[in-house]
Amino acid sequence: MPEKHLRYFPWRMKNFIPNLKLKVFMNIKEAIISRRSVKHFDPRHKISEGELQELMKYAILSPTAFNIQHWRFIQVQDKDKRQLIEEASWGQKQVTEASVLLVVCADLNAWEKNPERYWRNAPTKVQSLLLPAIENYYTNHHQAQRDECFRSSSIAAMNIMLMAKGMGYDSCPMDGFNFDKVAKIIKLPHDHIIIMMIAIGKRRKDAKLRPGQLPLNKIFLTDSF
Ligand SMILES: Cc1cc2nc3c(=O)[nH]c(=O)nc-3n(C[C@H](O)[C@H](O)[C@H](O)COP(=O)(O)O)c2cc1C
Repeated sequence: MPEKHLRYFPWRMKNFIPNLKLKVFMNIKEAIISRRSVKHFDPRHKISEGELQELMKYAILSPTAFNIQHWRFIQVQDKDKRQLIEEASWGQKQVTEASVLLVVCADLNAWEKNPERYWRNAPTKVQSLLLPAIENYYTNHHQAQRDECFRSSSIAAMNIMLMAKGMGYDSCPMDGFNFDKVAKIIKLPHDHIIIMMIAIGKRRKDAKLRPGQLPLNKIFLTDSF
């Protein structure tokens, strides 16, 4: 655990920290500030299956429209496929160097595939309101079907990156690749779309200084444009 995180613990607790396997503690503000798009990862570092499950388990607590959970995540482990994806990404090395490469996909038709599963724990009264509402909202509304995939899966992508940061890893969101080629490599079903990729791993080189945030008062307005 990096020394800087120890300050969150009373000194008496420090002795217990080595027993807390996998966990790195970081508050949300620190995770947001220190998350950067990292391009150089240690290719020898392995993220264990346990860590990956932990990362994903929390990441998918993200909100989704009507709780539809359109996202589908493909982790590409196969070395040959990674190489092909790197080539389809114009040689971006983070694709093959990262410990984990996630292709964030979404199911365009998730809204109509057994939607009762999204509300199975809700009271019957709530189910009988929401299930027709889902059908009504999405039927023949192709733009909404697609937009919701992007909205909901992108929020999950952010959670993945923040969760990774909290666990001591770095990440890089990516859309600099040929979507058709990557779709072929991962055998994307015809009614799914690719949202982005996320490379996750141990940073080998820091990100460059932030290139320039727009001033808050230019992009955060009140009541109207
Ligand atoms: C949708 C999306 C696609 C991106 N695609 C790439 C990419 O293909 N390659 C890359 O190196 N960075 C990519 N980035 C990272 C951006 O360049 C980076 O987020 C931006 O410069 C701000 O830097 P920061 O994330 O370190 O704050 C992408 C970011 C987003 C949100």
